[in-house]
Amino acid sequence: MSHPLSDRINSLPVSQTLAMAAKARELKAAGKDIISLSLGEPDFNTPNFIKNAAIEAINQDYNSYTPVDGYTELKEAICTKFKRDNDLSYQPNQIVVSTGAKQSIANVAQVLLNPGDEVLLPAPYWVSYSAIATLCEAKFVEIPSTIETDFKITPEQLKAAITPKTKMIFFNSPNNPSGTIYSEAEYRALAEVLEKHPQIFILSDEIYEHINYGEKPFSFATIDTMYDRTITVNGLAKAFAMTGWRIGYIGAPQWIAKACTKMQGQITSGTNCIAQRAAITAVLAPVSKIQYMVDEFKNRRDMVLELLGEIDGLKLNVPPGAFYVFPDVSSFFGKTIQGRTIHNANDFSMLLLEEANVATVTGEAFGASNCVRLSYAASVAQLQEAIQRIKNVLS
Ligand SMILES: Cc1ncc(COP(=O)(O)O)c(C=O)c1O
Repeated sequence: MSHPLSDRINSLPVSQTLAMAAKARELKAAGKDIISLSLGEPDFNTPNFIKNAAIEAINQDYNSYTPVDGYTELKEAICTKFKRDNDLSYQPNQIVVSTGAKQSIANVAQVLLNPGDEVLLPAPYWVSYSAIATLCEAKFVEIPSTIETDFKITPEQLKAAITPKTKMIFFNSPNNPSGTIYSEAEYRALAEVLEKHPQIFILSDEIYEHINYGEKPFSFATIDTMYDRTITVNGLAKAFAMTGWRIGYIGAPQWIAKACTKMQGQITSGTNCIAQRAAITAVLAPVSKIQYMVDEFKNRRDMVLELLGEIDGLKLNVPPGAFYVFPDVSSFFGKTIQGRTIHNANDFSMLLLEEANVATVTGEAFGASNCVRLSYAASVAQLQEAIQRIKNVLS
């Protein structure tokens, strides 16, 4: 029986990262020994100094509704963080705290996009960007890139993708799924193109900023001509191992922040009070407090690249940030492995799941149909075992 669901929800694809996680769980429940390299979440615990701040907040009876856009102390702390880490000047009335960076992004899209507007997505891109644009009845336009250019788009490509209907572009550096970091010079070259199109807003998703291995990410809004039309998105999930705490935030022109507050005032009434109190401690903490996680991610990245490098046919680059590798697997297309013909990245990812018992995510989900994403937010032993299994199946 078909249910009378809205066209809106029917138009929305199921998240392929979550679908892969569900499929891996299903196989696990059926007794298979699955190693999951499909999820974008640190495998560390939230640091104790942040947990203690939350316990303190509970004991101090923080339990009421908070201001819709977040506690003033938290917004001030975020301004301090933006100045300290990004050389960005924001006032508290330019900050909105939300239930994860995902809601921050959804708010911005909801308040800026009209049906028919075009949203540029440099590919590969995080799966939810296209879904969020679709929910706004906007059209997303992919700008492709390949591993040969370290998954970066060029100013010429950007120029060619712009039409009179272009309203926004979503940048994400360090990038999920590729780990790519745009340099200051590369961002400035893209900004030069955008300068000629004042109707375009820039969403700069910097949630992986601290997970970089020496190449410091550049904040798009520090470009003077871009500040008034850039929304800087960040959050605590990745750098502080706080995915479940659900804290994200924006720094934006005040009129956009005000509209986002209006939006979430009707949807969530603001985010969890305990998580917000703990977030004050997290954002004000020196970055050195989380460096042990970044160092560990770097060791794992190096190991994963070395081990994957021993497998013929995988094309790799060196991702300078985030916790993913994104090999190009197109040399396997058209081949038959373990009785299965591999036509595309979906087939390849399914082969790894069902024959190697390793869950990955197809690049199709990220607008890069030659690649698959492997997360190295897993233990060294799991990573070694997973790659050995992949090697066995592919050879
Ligand atoms: C690029 C990117 N932006 C935003 C998010 C969402 O973060 P949050 O968990 O704070 O909603 C993610 C999470 O996977 C992400 O990879």
